Amino acid sequence: MIKKILIGLAIVFIIIQFFRPSKNLSADTSKDISALYNVPDDVKLILQRACNDCHSNKTVYPWYAEVQPVEWWLNNHIVDGKRHFNLNDFTSLKVAVQKKKMEECMEQIKKNEMPLDSYTWIHKDAILSEADKQRINTWCASIIDTLKAKYPPDSLIFKEQRWHD
Ligand code: HEC
Repeated sequence: MIKKILIGLAIVFIIIQFFRPSKNLSADTSKDISALYNVPDDVKLILQRACNDCHSNKTVYPWYAEVQPVEWWLNNHIVDGKRHFNLNDFTSLKVAVQKKKMEECMEQIKKNEMPLDSYTWIHKDAILSEADKQRINTWCASIIDTLKAKYPPDSLIFKEQRWHD
């Protein structure tokens, strides 16, 4: 009986290996946040090590992502993360949404919600120091300032609106 169950499980495991989500490996960065805003090198490095895997068009996959159902699980985070906040698609957002996203970013960092715990369990180098958090914070604030200087106040009021034109 046990042997049959194990063989059954092994077969299921082999079959699910054939169902793979498409990988997040686009090289399109034409709408990257850096196309319009200054992203200093030190900020870029923090984003790269702690955020980009879920919030850009390019994920650096670990080897175990080749194994299902691990990749399904990672893919959920990537799809969900990009839907909420995509650094490589930032400039396509309406300016009120850009401002809102920078506010959310500061909020997430302040509450220690990002990067996700399940990510930092494995990616220890993604754990943010107080200095990193401060750096991301001032960077987000500087983008908000740029937006405020550039656009009239009512264009920056976020209502439940479409994100893109
Ligand atoms: C392992 C994947 C992962 C990593 C790494 C990650 N995030 Fe997220 N992020 C998500 C997911 C999933 C969501 C959407 C669901 C949620 O809010 O929990 C999200 C949501 C967000 C949002 C939108 C919040 C909102 O109110 O809609 C912001 C902003 C954000 N993340 C910023 C960051 C920043 C900054 C970093 C790096 C310091 C980071 N994230 C790292 C997965 C990730």
